[in-house]
Amino acid sequence: MSEFSYRQGSLWAEQVSLEEVAERFGTPTYVYSRAHFERQYQAYAEALGSHPGLICYAVKANSNLGILSLLAQLGAGFDIVSGGELERVLLAGGDPSRIVFSGVGKTADEIRRGLEVGVHCFNIESEAEMRRLEQVAAECEAVAPISLRVNPDVDAQTHPYISTGLKENKFGVAINSALDVYLYAARSPHLRVTGVDCHIGSQLTEVAPFLDALDRLLMLVDTLSAEGIQLEHLDLGGGLGVRYRGEEPPVVADYLQAVLERIGERQLGLILEPGRSIAANGGVLLTRVEYLKHTEGHNFAIVDAAMNDNLRPALYQAWQDIVPVTPSDGEDTLWDIVGPVCETGDFLGKNRALALREGQLLAMLSAGAYGFTMSSNYNSRPRAAEVLVDGENSYLVRTRETFDDLVRGETPVPEKV
Ligand code: LLP
Repeated sequence: MSEFSYRQGSLWAEQVSLEEVAERFGTPTYVYSRAHFERQYQAYAEALGSHPGLICYAVKANSNLGILSLLAQLGAGFDIVSGGELERVLLAGGDPSRIVFSGVGKTADEIRRGLEVGVHCFNIESEAEMRRLEQVAAECEAVAPISLRVNPDVDAQTHPYISTGLKENKFGVAINSALDVYLYAARSPHLRVTGVDCHIGSQLTEVAPFLDALDRLLMLVDTLSAEGIQLEHLDLGGGLGVRYRGEEPPVVADYLQAVLERIGERQLGLILEPGRSIAANGGVLLTRVEYLKHTEGHNFAIVDAAMNDNLRPALYQAWQDIVPVTPSDGEDTLWDIVGPVCETGDFLGKNRALALREGQLLAMLSAGAYGFTMSSNYNSRPRAAEVLVDGENSYLVRTRETFDDLVRGETPVPEKV
């Protein structure tokens, strides 16, 4: 089911025509469906049911305040990786006691702020970070709740850039060294051991690697229990993959049922940190064809969105569907859909069969996750607007950047003396 569908010959988001959105707000523009985010979040919350735990939306997937606030209104928890994400969640009305603070490189200031607002727990990734956390907590006369991110060394079989659970990755502590770290933490008056976590990678379309990781974590949980360290929760990291092009990701309820069965009788809360599966198919990137250009062997459609707006194709060779907002009757030709940025890697899609004309509106689908959040100002391009559709209403949740935004904080230097 999708909240983006054709009616009366053009593409709509919920009850709003994307042509109308483009007219009102211009292009390039990210358009999100509130109903999609709500439905996807609720699927996790309902599958968790009455089992203790939290669904902590991974803010990095889409951190717009409009999105965070709608999730906060549903009682979501949040997975954050920086002080910036923390402040966003607070500004959106998120409950700090439902935040898990992940990330390999938290600074002392970020830790201090996390302690001050009372996050649910710090997911620590190294012994060095644990010592830093202990020291900052001591200075603040606080006790920091911690979970240790262990690296279970399983192959998530996803793109190498988004695979994180192999022992050669920078993330987490090797599962074989975890016991020593826990024994240290358990003795510290400024640390309170609450959980264990892992994140083996993103865009996983099979449950098996998650369950392999879970089995390894449960062995550790039981070993710790035998040592007198009772964990309160287990955090399995990011959520399921999504369908970009024919993938058949598992159903959330089936995944969680398998997880809860394995947890069994243990008194162990469950935390998940889904990002992509809540956000990806809840957004499109609207863009307009500027020029059509033909070279020997290639047809290029140069559009007004570029790699700075959606980096995924350039960085991961990611495939996202590109469809006309108002399909025409013309014959399909193969097009490379490219942006105006001065890089050969600046493409949104290659070899797409479309009937195109100048001025036409296109929608790049599955753009709600890791789209705007990874955008940049490369080539001094102002970042796109963001619009949230809710039924018949659309809200501008981020205005298009202006030239003033681009140079804010910069100054020319005086003439050389
Ligand atoms: N938790 C941790 C610790 C993570 O590192 C991530 C994603 C998540 C949760 C959320 O995972 P998800 O549910 O979205 O799979 N930019 C890449 C994806 C990078 C993912 C990084 N970590 C992309 O566009 O494909």
